[in-house]
Amino acid sequence: MSADQSKTEPAKDGAETLSNLLKEDRTFPPPAEMAANANVTPELVARADADPEAFWAEQAKRLTWGTEPTQILDWSNPPFAKWFADGRLNAAHNALDRHVEAGHGDRIAFHFEGDRGDSRDITYAELTDEVCKAANALTELGVKAGDRVGIYMPMIPETIIAMLACARIGAPHMVVFAGFSADALASRITDCGVEVVITADGQFRRGEPTALKPAVDAACEQCPGVRSVLVVQRTGEKTEMVEGRDVWWHDVVDRQSSEHTPEMFDAEHPLYIMYTSGSTGKPKGILHTTGGYLVGTAFTHWASFDLKPETDVFWCAADVGWVTGHSYLVYAPLVNGATSVLYEGTPNSPHQGRWWEIVDKYKVSILYCAPTAIRTFMKWGHEIPAKYDLSSLRLLGSVGEPINPEAYIWFRTHIGRENCPIVDTWWQTETGMHLIAPMPGVAEAKPGSAQHAVPGVAVAVVDEEGREVANGEGGYLVVKKPWPAMLRTLWGDDQRYVDTYWSRFDGLYFAGDGAKLDEDGDIWLLGRVDDVMNVSGHRMSTTEIESALVSHDTVAEAAVVGASDPTTGQAIVAFVILRESATGREEDVVEELRRHVATEISPIAKPRQIMVVDELPKTRSGKIMRRLLRDIAENREVGDVSTLTDSTVMDQIAKGLKRG
Ligand code: WTA
Repeated sequence: MSADQSKTEPAKDGAETLSNLLKEDRTFPPPAEMAANANVTPELVARADADPEAFWAEQAKRLTWGTEPTQILDWSNPPFAKWFADGRLNAAHNALDRHVEAGHGDRIAFHFEGDRGDSRDITYAELTDEVCKAANALTELGVKAGDRVGIYMPMIPETIIAMLACARIGAPHMVVFAGFSADALASRITDCGVEVVITADGQFRRGEPTALKPAVDAACEQCPGVRSVLVVQRTGEKTEMVEGRDVWWHDVVDRQSSEHTPEMFDAEHPLYIMYTSGSTGKPKGILHTTGGYLVGTAFTHWASFDLKPETDVFWCAADVGWVTGHSYLVYAPLVNGATSVLYEGTPNSPHQGRWWEIVDKYKVSILYCAPTAIRTFMKWGHEIPAKYDLSSLRLLGSVGEPINPEAYIWFRTHIGRENCPIVDTWWQTETGMHLIAPMPGVAEAKPGSAQHAVPGVAVAVVDEEGREVANGEGGYLVVKKPWPAMLRTLWGDDQRYVDTYWSRFDGLYFAGDGAKLDEDGDIWLLGRVDDVMNVSGHRMSTTEIESALVSHDTVAEAAVVGASDPTTGQAIVAFVILRESATGREEDVVEELRRHVATEISPIAKPRQIMVVDELPKTRSGKIMRRLLRDIAENREVGDVSTLTDSTVMDQIAKGLKRG
């Protein structure tokens, strides 16, 4: 986009994706033993569909309430929902104390596996004590219920302790993925008015320490409102501490009492804010509240993964900095009293069999990960997992993007021994919980399709006018009724919440995804219909990256598209028009621009390719036609150019690229 122009046409692709997906037509019934003992039965599904509100009221009994709710859904002021509004509870008490009180204090909450092979088992009783200490420390630092706390941390136990300590005292946390830049951290801190940040000196990556604290220091320079920074010592590398602002976790937390009485909060008390990319440059602060969120995530964790907390070992391989980490690494597993694996490192360090070694070591029975990881393992070869004993696995979950049948079959064959159901879970930061997933033990699995709404949830595929499409047709994915873990609003911006999700179709939640129903009425997800890309399961906004590019003084205009990529799903491809000043040093500038995007947003936002062009294709109303740029990025013949102001532009771009 140019500095003054940010309008773009919606990207409606996906037809090709569907035809790829449809190549595999085998279906897989659940293994007989699982079907016989499954948590979810056809009877439960029928009951949930018949009366969703009564069903969710029943599910609310999974929690321990200080005051039992008598109300279920309050939809008197749509689209602002309240769930279980007169109930009171404490999230950390539900995740911890009540399990200890029930005699499960010795059960392992987390098998922590460090990047360098250091490991630590943490029981429910130990985790409860640690969280109480951290809650006391936060109180000493002046944090009160309602105050937002920033968390910028690696995948270590203290991160989970910090989140739960915040929840315990009613201070909503705002976790920023530690791969994000100082600028991205600063804008989030500012947007939700964070005064206290919890971080670490650094983290281990491929055996080496990498610093985190300097990014917090740089962010704080832009955020004078931050008065305290609590720093966990993870790497022990030399770290600068700002006098009067920074304190070490071991100095402040370790000396606290492990006694802490959890206060009960309203069910609608804010639990956390998580920023996610939208179709404009400014990230959206998704607000989740307590009661409904915990009910929805606990139920789906139990249902989608057929969780048996006494015997399963659950591993959600997502980073805690994303919603998957919040819902299915932290809150739901703990509320359900499960045993989980927490892994700090990367899949290929010190060797490409690391994940399978971990599955073998802890006898993981349920593994939840993203298709992009599976495709990477496919590239490395099935000989690698074959070296380990994976017989403990009984269910595999997938999240973040459609799982293409090739990856599905590989996962099923080489990891699941053809005996583990694969549960493809569709959901979003906004939805908080799974909304579409084939229930294990019930569904006949269909590779590539997420199939059905979870029990108690009603989704549909609609056309431009909001009418439900017939089987065999495609359109937009919507949710028809409020669900307990839904976002309540966007932090500080109720209007944007209404505009983004509830204005496209009357009374329906607009997810931003395209979808198609097959002849059996099963749902196939087709990717975003807005300017949001999905790169390795991470949401990226095209406009945000365009803004980063035009903020560099060599760039006059920029357009970004997501091109399909065999490993990452989509890859970022940028087209830039450079200013005169860059003439003659295009190659250097391109490298500089990639680095610039990494510092402005994150290394994961670095374009795979930047193409220098003289023109960008625009409609007469000035919108950039990304569809045409995507054709180029994917090496396809360029489509219909009749709406361009200048129909020769595409030839010029193509010629220029050949020249380059
Ligand atoms: C995409 C991640 C197809 C989708 C939990 C959605 C999926 C966006 C799937 C949300 C899936 C997520 N099949 N697409 N199973 N799961 N998506 O907020 O486009 O990071 O809108 O939440 O990821 O991404 P977010």
